Amino acid sequence: MHDPLPIDARLCATFLAHEVNKSASAVLINAEAALRWLDKGPADVMRAQKSLRLLIRNTERTCEIISRFRDPSWLLRSDREAVNVNDIANGTLSLMFSEIADASIRVERDFCQSLQLISADRAQLEHVFTNLIANSIDAIRATRRRAGYLRVGTYQVDQGGVLIAIEDSGEPIPAHHVDHVFDLLHTTKPYGSGVGLAISRAIIDNHGGRIWARRNDWGEGSTFRMILPGVGHASAEAADNES
Ligand SMILES: Nc1ncnc2c1ncn2[C@@H]1O[C@H](COP(=O)(O)OP(=O)(O)O)[C@@H](O)[C@H]1O
Ligand SMILES: [Mg+2]
Repeated sequence: MHDPLPIDARLCATFLAHEVNKSASAVLINAEAALRWLDKGPADVMRAQKSLRLLIRNTERTCEIISRFRDPSWLLRSDREAVNVNDIANGTLSLMFSEIADASIRVERDFCQSLQLISADRAQLEHVFTNLIANSIDAIRATRRRAGYLRVGTYQVDQGGVLIAIEDSGEPIPAHHVDHVFDLLHTTKPYGSGVGLAISRAIIDNHGGRIWARRNDWGEGSTFRMILPGVGHASAEAADNES
């Protein structure tokens, strides 16, 4: 277990700034995409509608997170239900479709189709996926190469639990930062907040799970992994964390 997240005024302000910023970027990217589809001759109304629907869903999601955060202890409580992690992964990837397309990222899904359900707070888990995928997009953009990939995998753990891996081809985490990426306010980005991973780790800890990061062995990109206990298992501590 790690130190509990200090829920103080600074964390709240940083968290809200981070959420509003992320939401504003999603609005911009989707609104610009919609305009581009409409400006085309002939206009592609279907694609423009898709971008506008994503804009609305993203904004709804931000409103929900912000309204739940009126009571910041929300992060440490949770509203559990039986959840299929593949659905959360798919839902988050489709919500972030425009940001992913805008960075020319190829998405690969490696989903276990017979995945055990986990007992989780859906909104919190979506929040973790959103943070991890947003970080991968930033890391891939930072390479300035034309195309990168994001691979999302889910695996059944024998001891009763689910392993999730989010791998990217971005700029790897600097070797001397690997142990610090989850520290509150640790950021290497000019406009970063350093709250996304600290909050993600607090959420996963609170679900009895574990989250950790590695640079990929082949020198390109990083992989974030999480293990969450399956329904009926209190903690993923016993599960192997080196898959
Ligand atoms: N997929 C990734 N690839 C490379 N570095 C990463 C990745 N995810 C996180 N990091 C590093 O961890 C830091 C902290 O991430 P985070 O807590 O989400 O804050 P922020 O994104 O605001 O900087 C980032 O600034 C970056 O240096
Ligand atoms: Mg981040």
